[in-house]
Amino acid sequence: MSDTATTLTLTQPDDWHLHFRDGDLLAETVPATARCFARAIVMPNLVPPVTTAAAATEYRARIMQAVPEDKAFEPLMTLYLTGETTVADIQAAKAAGVVAAKLYPRGATTNSDAAVRQVESLFPVFEEMTRQNMLLLIHGEVTDAEIDIFDREKEFIDRHLQAIVRAMPELKVVFEHITTKDAVDFVVTATDKVAATITPQHLLMNRNDLLVGGVRPHNFCLPVLKRNLHQQALQKAVASGSKRFFLGTDSAPHARHMKESACGCAGCYSAWSAIELYAEVFERLGCLDNLEGFASHYGADFYGLPRNTNTITLVRESWQVPSKINLPSGDELVPFYAGETLNWKLQA
Ligand code: NCD
Ligand code: ZN
Repeated sequence: MSDTATTLTLTQPDDWHLHFRDGDLLAETVPATARCFARAIVMPNLVPPVTTAAAATEYRARIMQAVPEDKAFEPLMTLYLTGETTVADIQAAKAAGVVAAKLYPRGATTNSDAAVRQVESLFPVFEEMTRQNMLLLIHGEVTDAEIDIFDREKEFIDRHLQAIVRAMPELKVVFEHITTKDAVDFVVTATDKVAATITPQHLLMNRNDLLVGGVRPHNFCLPVLKRNLHQQALQKAVASGSKRFFLGTDSAPHARHMKESACGCAGCYSAWSAIELYAEVFERLGCLDNLEGFASHYGADFYGLPRNTNTITLVRESWQVPSKINLPSGDELVPFYAGETLNWKLQA
């Protein structure tokens, strides 16, 4: 496409990693995503987590009730792996239409207290997932107190991820929301059973955007923003057009008072500007032509699902991400990139 193009039409994209939350918040989060995306991989880190087929089925029904009438949207459900997850749980999840299971190291992130202590103890479960053609989605960070938070992703690759993919060569693994050059290098040199999602915040920002001039709680997410050479490696990965990297926003709302706090929550709520944020990055990188593959093709291909057949159109139009979103509960959400100007906008 030329530099002066004023519209950009894409196969409708999917979001391969996000957090809808539950209860009243679904009325906010589900329309925000259904605005643009046809499908989304829904993270299971509720309280309590979604650890059974029945819980996933009930959660899907609550999400479907929040889908606006004029939208066709399909939530793709995931199971939260714990030390107690059994082969039978995997079989039941598959039968209920659950497409993937999520591995959180214990304590790695929001609501991960129930997660796995010993990754290797789950190998029989991973074997069953391979048989059932379910994907393994991994939050790739170690959580040991002595490991520096900026090194936790690399350490996870070295300690666990190498071993998992070596032991399970047929299992499809998505290394979620990668943040480092180490992760990019791992994915490009792995087999074609390994892919990764990349968020808008990790493409747009580095740790200066978190810490310079004052702590910016709304840019705090996990894995934490890294130094700029890692940001550049992620940018290079998407600019390369490699099919192994695809869109996963990790949109993860927390009320303003939970983020602007002495112990602020991790997570950026990006759903209302998701595709526009990626368009911004791809344009700055001079690779807008790659946006459709990243946003709309590679994820579906990796998951073994059909690509969407309808399209969306972005128009070149400056607009400001709102400074806040009022929730019916009286709480406020501060969206990611609040107050910033974006140059592409989804056509209504
Ligand atoms: C996510 C959340 O809030 O649920 N937070 C985040 O910073 N990404 C959890 C996660 O994906 O790690
Ligand atoms: Zn997430």
